[in-house]
Parts: sequence; structure tokens; C-alpha cells
Amino acid sequence: MSNLLPETRIQELRETIRRHDELYYRDGTQEISDREYDALKEELAKLEREAGVEAEASPTKTVGDDRTEGFRKVKHRQPMLSLDNTYNEEELRAFHTRLAKLYDEGAELEYVVEPKIDGVAVCVTYEKGKLTQAITRGNGAEGDDITRNLIEGVPDLPRELADAPDIVEIRGEIYMMAEEFLRINAEREAAGLPEFANPRNLTAGTIKQLNGVVGRRLSIVLYGIGYCSDERFAMQSDLHEAIRKWQLPTIEKYWKVTGIDAAWNAIEELDQLRHEFAYATDGAVVKLNSFAMQSEAGMTSKAPRWAIAYKFEAEQAETLLEKIDVQIGRTGAVTPVAHLAPVQLAGTTVSRATLHNEDEIKRKDIRPGDTVLVQKAGEIIPQVLSVVLAKRPADSQPFDFATFLQERGIVAERVPGQAAWRLTGQDDPIQQRRRLTHYGSKQCLDIENLGEAVVDQLVGAELVSDPADLYVLTQEQLMGLERFGEKSADNLIKAIADSKQAELWRLVHALGIPHVGKQSAKDITQHFGSLDALMEADPETLEAVDGVGGIMAQAIVDFFADENNRALILRLREYGLNFALAESEKPTPVAEGAVLAGKTVVLTGTLPTLTRNEATELIEKAGGKTSGSVSKKTDYVLAGEAAGSKLAKAEKLGVTVLDEAAFRALIDG
Ligand code: IVH
Repeated sequence: MSNLLPETRIQELRETIRRHDELYYRDGTQEISDREYDALKEELAKLEREAGVEAEASPTKTVGDDRTEGFRKVKHRQPMLSLDNTYNEEELRAFHTRLAKLYDEGAELEYVVEPKIDGVAVCVTYEKGKLTQAITRGNGAEGDDITRNLIEGVPDLPRELADAPDIVEIRGEIYMMAEEFLRINAEREAAGLPEFANPRNLTAGTIKQLNGVVGRRLSIVLYGIGYCSDERFAMQSDLHEAIRKWQLPTIEKYWKVTGIDAAWNAIEELDQLRHEFAYATDGAVVKLNSFAMQSEAGMTSKAPRWAIAYKFEAEQAETLLEKIDVQIGRTGAVTPVAHLAPVQLAGTTVSRATLHNEDEIKRKDIRPGDTVLVQKAGEIIPQVLSVVLAKRPADSQPFDFATFLQERGIVAERVPGQAAWRLTGQDDPIQQRRRLTHYGSKQCLDIENLGEAVVDQLVGAELVSDPADLYVLTQEQLMGLERFGEKSADNLIKAIADSKQAELWRLVHALGIPHVGKQSAKDITQHFGSLDALMEADPETLEAVDGVGGIMAQAIVDFFADENNRALILRLREYGLNFALAESEKPTPVAEGAVLAGKTVVLTGTLPTLTRNEATELIEKAGGKTSGSVSKKTDYVLAGEAAGSKLAKAEKLGVTVLDEAAFRALIDG
């Protein structure tokens, strides 16, 4: 485990757990699996017990905190607690033994066994039968008022209950169906945005949107009671029946059992069924059925003594780590991602897994080419657990994140005091403003309303420092700026999003490459067809493009060699900008009626003024094609001095022969 002094380790564990709590509850993300998190907590609880330092504020005694700025805070009538967890049958039985001692000896205890839903806890209040409020768990004592988002996001939640008590608080979990999760991620992928790691994180993020749930559909499952103004419920199973009668969305199945053996059987049965449920489950919850007995058992500061969660082990599989790549996040965060040989895991195919950060790769010594053990934490997020060292290739090299980034031209630096890396952007504000104004201008990406004044505001508020930052602006951020309302914020975000589809020349011009104006941008994109091809071009190839001279060619090469520019382009790609010649940019098909439409011309000999290239261009402009040899299909032979066998053949076949003057007369019409 650790050879630190217990006090130091306790301190370290408390800090680590608090950080993971914050990630999980407040940011709706996670860096470690539930299993790893539970193990940290277990270690801390043990050390605290041994050292006799079970401080009130320790994360072993509190429930985490999801409260976020911008939401009204509401106190819970009854605290919203957490559950004690276990992964083993023995501890489950010990739970039963502890409880059994509280009651008449020999009395069989009645339990309800339910799925443990891997969602986001919520407390929903109905007053006089009307849905009035939805509150998150918060810190257990008070939570955030998310009523509006719940009503908007969960259309299936009944707004009214028949025969309801004056006030009833029903608890449950908000979740997102796999289908909706996949729909949103597919949309994000198409837009070049980073995908969400799992439905739980997306659910947590969605209910905490300050501007509504932005078209995302959530679901809910209710299973618990927070408060009831009358005494109609004596048991958890009564509550379940009422929830059903009220037609509230609820769990598919619960088991009412007597004794721990029967509870264990129910857990095993649940494990077989749970993959069929619409929501993710990560365990079973065993609860004393009788509310009176629950009160007698009481609770700790954190969890009831009358219930326990038995967590299912995540399924694991071995697969090949084909390569390590990076993902660039909304704030320029550079996150390593494992590309895996596809493997079946807990019902889905897994081919990517997050590697979290540089330290995680080092700690686990993960290398491309390794066979790794992956699991879906809490059934959902694929994670690389460890390397199967026995299968490591002999020539394997440790993975060095810094070198990896450098080789790819990704200019990033490690955030001081953190394991995260972030792209570096250095321009001074004046330069940033100029660049952004140019980027959004009519001659470039033509982003409506991104004028100088708005650019000033964005840069001033440090929301944007380079063009890629535009693509991660949120409505909320814009609405925090002067003169921005909901509508204007929305319009600007739409205009920015539309620019992703702009023709390639616009983007090339917008990049602000020295010497490259609008026409040159058009010429070079026509020639190269894609930004990638342009980025790879050498000065000679560039100079071959009409209108590109030596100075411009060098400026283009220098621009794309610059690490900062490459980093910017990487992010623009990540955000889904069009990097290829759009249909509208491709050479226009020849208009019908063009003089040489459908005609084939063979060039031979030396023309008085036109070079071969120039002549070919003119032929193509007039809709014709050139060919190297004369046949019956040849329509014209354009002959100059010293025309040889081709001319003779043309004459023999009766093909019309033109000199330069006749050719010019023909195409000039
Ligand atoms: S009962 C007094 N039952 O898991 C606490 N909780 O890890 C009673 N959860 O805070 C909670 N499914 O948000 C209960 N069938 C279930 C549950 C469940 C999911 C959540 C709940 C709880 C957390 C603890």
C-alpha cells in the first residue's frame, strides 16, 4: 500500500478523495473507477480508525457535494445520505448480523433488495398532488434547485399525482438512456467535439445547465421516500406499490425477502437481469423493509445503518493497446487516449479508453503495443486497469508524453501542480484581437456579429484568445457579457458553428498566413484540395501554383512549420472545421454550350505565343479535354511549328487542324 506515516497518508488520502469527490459530484466526471475510489475510502477509514482520528469533516464521514453556483439552494427536509458499500458477501452478511443483534434474537429480518442505479440523485416534491420542486443531493443537507431542468429534460415524469399526500418527497436517480447518450455523442463526433465519457457524467452536466437542458433527454427512476406529510407508508414495499400506482417511473423489479440468504439469492438474480434495464446499475441495495425498524437502526453522519449497497465487480477483458493518442479538450486540455483492439465488455464493444493524464501512464507504465486489462468502471467508462507484463513485446519502450507531444507539433505545457497538460497560446491581446477580427471578417469565415466590439469583449473577458476558442464558447459565457441577451448569444454561437462548414479558402485566408490574400487562398486551395495537403507542401510545389511567388511560398511553409500554428490547426480539426475543398470550391463544371464542351483537342508542335500549359488551360476553360494522341475521336489538332506525325495523322483521318490564331478565334467565339 504505502510506506508513509499514517498521519501523512491520512492527509494525502483525504485530499485525494476530496478531489475525486469534487470531480464526481460537482463536475460530473471521474478519473478513477468506482472500485478504486471505494478502495481509497476503505483505506482511509481503516487508518482513521486505527489512529483514532475520525474527524467530522473527513470524506469518510461526508457525502460529497454537488452544489454549483447559479442554482437556488434548498434545504432537504430529511438529509439525503449516501450508502455504505461492499464488494463481498461476507461483509454483506456482517451487515445482517449487526442488524439482527438490534432486534429480538432469532427474529428473521425482512429486506427489500433493489437495483442500485448509477445515476444522479434527486429529490422530487409533490405538493397537493402537483410537482413543485426537484433538488439535487447537494451536500446532503441542502441541494440545488433543478426543477426547471427536470421538467424540461424529463418529459415522462408525471406532473400530477392522484390521491397524493399534502406533501411528499420522492427520491430517485436521474439518468440518460444509452440511446440518447449515443445520439448526443454521435452529434458531437460529427461536430468534431470531444465526446462525453459516459451517460452519468453527461446526466450530471445536463441537469446543471444554467440555460436549460439544451435538447437533451433525461430519464428518471424513483425508489425512495424523503418525506411524507401523512403516515400512509409503513414499509419500503408499500412505497414501491404506491410509486407504481402513481405511475411514476420506477425500477423494473424489487425483491421482498426474509433473511440474508434470500437477500443474497435476490442479488444473484438481479445480477443476471440488470443488463436488460434501461439504466446502468452498479450493484444491489439491501434495505430493511420496515420504516419503524429503519428508525430504530438509525444512521451515521453519512449513511443509514439499515441499508447497504453490494457492488458488482466490473467486467474485465484483455486487449491490445494499439496506440496512444491525445484528445484536445474545450480549454485546450490535452488528454491521452488509448486506442484498443475492439473488445467485448459488459455488453458493448470497447475500442477507446481514457488514460487520464501523464502520471497515470507513468504510474501504470502503459506503452503502445502492450496487452492491457480494461474494464468498464461502474459498467460504463472503459479504463485501462493494468498492463499484462508477460505479454509485453521485447522491443517495448516507455511512453514519454512530452516527447510524444513534441513529435506531433503539439505545443503544450504541464499545468503547474497538476498532472494535466494544456496547449500554450501566447499572443498578446492586441495581436489576438487583430487575428480574431480578421478570422471572422467577411473576406474570411464571415461570422456574423463577430465584429471588433465583440472581439474586444471576448478577449477582454479572457474567454477567447485564439480562433479555436470561439468554438467552445457557451451561451452562458456570452450572456455574462454586456449587451448580450439570450437571443444574441444564441445567434453568435450559431454563426460560429456555421463557420465550420465554410469553404476551405475562407479558412486558409482566415488563418492569417503572411502574404496570403483572398485570391491566393482560393488559388492554393484549388490546387491542393485540402488543408493537410497544403500543410505538407514544399516551396517548389507551392511556387508551381499560379499566383504564388517565392516569398509567399516560403511564408506558407514557415507558417505551417510553426508549432503554435500547428497546435491551433489541431484544435480547429478537433472542433470539426472543414479542412477539405467543398463542392462549391471545386472547379466549376463546364457550362453547357461552352465552345469545346465534350471536345478532345490534341496539341502538337510549338505555338507562336502560348506555352503548352497555357494552351491546355484555355482548352479546359472552354470545356475541352486534351489528349496525347490523335484518333477518330479527336475533334481538333492544335498544331504549331515542327508538328510531326500527329499532324500527318490528323490530316489522314480528316480531323480539323487549327493554328494558334484559329484556335483563339474559336474559343473567343
Ligand atoms: S437508498 C439513505 N436505493 O446510491 C440513503 N439509493 O451510493 C438511501 N442509489 O445516495 C439511498 N440506487 O443516490 C438507494 N435503489 C437505491 C439506489 C440508491 C441508487 C444511490 C443514491 C445513494 C447512492 C449511494
